[in-house]
Amino acid sequence: MKRILIVGAGGGIASALMQQVKARQLSLMTISRGNSVGDSEHLQADLSREDHIPMVREWLAARPLPDVVIVCSGMLHRSDKGPEKTLRDFDDTFFIENLQTNVLAHVHMAQAMMPLVKRDSVVRWLSLSAMVGSITDNRLGGWYSYRMSKAALNMFIRNMAIEWQRKAPKTVVVAVHPGTTDTALSRPFQANVATDKLYQPQQTAERILRIAHNVTEEDSGYLFHWDGTRLPF
Ligand SMILES: NC(=O)c1ccc[n+]([C@@H]2O[C@H](COP(=O)([O-])OP(=O)(O)OC[C@H]3O[C@@H](n4cnc5c(N)ncnc54)[C@H](OP(=O)(O)O)[C@@H]3O)[C@@H](O)[C@H]2O)c1
Repeated sequence: MKRILIVGAGGGIASALMQQVKARQLSLMTISRGNSVGDSEHLQADLSREDHIPMVREWLAARPLPDVVIVCSGMLHRSDKGPEKTLRDFDDTFFIENLQTNVLAHVHMAQAMMPLVKRDSVVRWLSLSAMVGSITDNRLGGWYSYRMSKAALNMFIRNMAIEWQRKAPKTVVVAVHPGTTDTALSRPFQANVATDKLYQPQQTAERILRIAHNVTEEDSGYLFHWDGTRLPF
């Protein structure tokens, strides 16, 4: 791992990842809706928007291709609306926002990068997903928009892994469950989380980088727990 691209770089897990990348003296590229996230080669873009794809592609094309891409984009709640407890709370606008952030930001990033990936390219792609997007693991219900959008992200990752392996056999494409991490995304929902199950962003960042380091072509298309084991979709 030499050159790492972090997408959705303004968030809590992404900020910790950036610190770890810097500490390891790897070269860092970042994309965020914000105009600056610190000391990195930075592009301001909103990947939930389809019309930003060409700008992202042009920026990527002007630089060496990153060998690791970590897409951190995601949402669980808005300031005025939390995830649904029951179907009564479901509304289309909130669901569509979840799809734009939890799925389309990842799809658009892949679309921007795809033409630059050549047959001999070596790229490891990690999309931050969530265990609650696992259909097999869902025993509690609730959180309709988040669960459905993360399930869609997981399917996207499987599809993309198949397509990229045909195009560039040395690529690895995985989804990662980072574990409940103390960031703005989880803060309103931490009360019921045991203290030893609530992780600090630095700890989570180390675990994600360990997965980025360890995954091989055989792992492509799977959802990984932060401890490196595979989770059922
Ligand atoms: N924290 C946890 O407990 C936990 C658990 C399981 C999974 N995850 C997943 O891990 C990832 C990172 O989470 P985090 O805890 O670091 O969350 P966070 O601090 O809220 O960061 C989320 C990032 O997503 C991007 N984003 C948010 N809303 C967006 C919107 N409407 N349009 C476009 N981009 C938007 C932002 O990127 P920019 O502003 O930089 O563009 C933001 O930096 C997410 O995918 C999340 O689902 C987190």
